[in-house]
Amino acid sequence: MRLDKFLCEMELGSRSQVKALIRQGAVTVNGMSVGKADIQIDEFSDSVCCGGRLLIYQKYVYYMLNKPKGVISATEDPAAQTVISLLGGDGRKGIFPVGRLDKDTTGLLVLTDDGELAHRLLSPKNHVDKTYRLKISKPLTEENISRLEQGVDIGEKRPTLPAGVALLGERELLLTIREGKYHQVKRMLHAVGSEVLDLERISFGGINLDERLGPGEYRKLTTEEIRRLQNEGI
Ligand code: URA
Repeated sequence: MRLDKFLCEMELGSRSQVKALIRQGAVTVNGMSVGKADIQIDEFSDSVCCGGRLLIYQKYVYYMLNKPKGVISATEDPAAQTVISLLGGDGRKGIFPVGRLDKDTTGLLVLTDDGELAHRLLSPKNHVDKTYRLKISKPLTEENISRLEQGVDIGEKRPTLPAGVALLGERELLLTIREGKYHQVKRMLHAVGSEVLDLERISFGGINLDERLGPGEYRKLTTEEIRRLQNEGI
């Protein structure tokens, strides 16, 4: 890969910023200072340093985004703002959201370019846990809570799988589901006579939304969080 592309992928700056770093002599390849941005390097075997720091290439990148309302879970769209546009910058191509949240849903969305992991996490066979915090229009009766827990008919071939319910208030709860059917949470609540007024995902595949991330903010997953996702998908 080209040296300037490598430096962008390592998040050292935009194309013009990394070119300036190269011109200033801050970058070495296998111990030799290089002055040209367009030389080819082997990102896996060459030793590239910037300002004396060795840059270790990661095959894939993994982010958690706190998705705001009004943004769609897609890589591109002619009209609406996408979650990918929130990542901004000159980083890697090929990053996509792992699954979808509705336009009006907020919270934890994982973004990566690791297609194999995403495929495993989204496979219906794997029953990856997702926890949502919901505000609802009508309090739930004991009977409706146990219907959600046991599985409800949302018009699919089979009822939903057993879910976890934890009440936070009269009209607020946490719901943990192990599938990802279209509008599943909204349809489950509708099936028990209530409507979802506000929906936020706070956990996915054993990782929790980082409370320090404001709406629209993102960060890289830690090694431990990546490991947890990888174990989920097995
Ligand atoms: N269920 C929904 O209804 N919407 C979402 O965005 C996620 C789960």
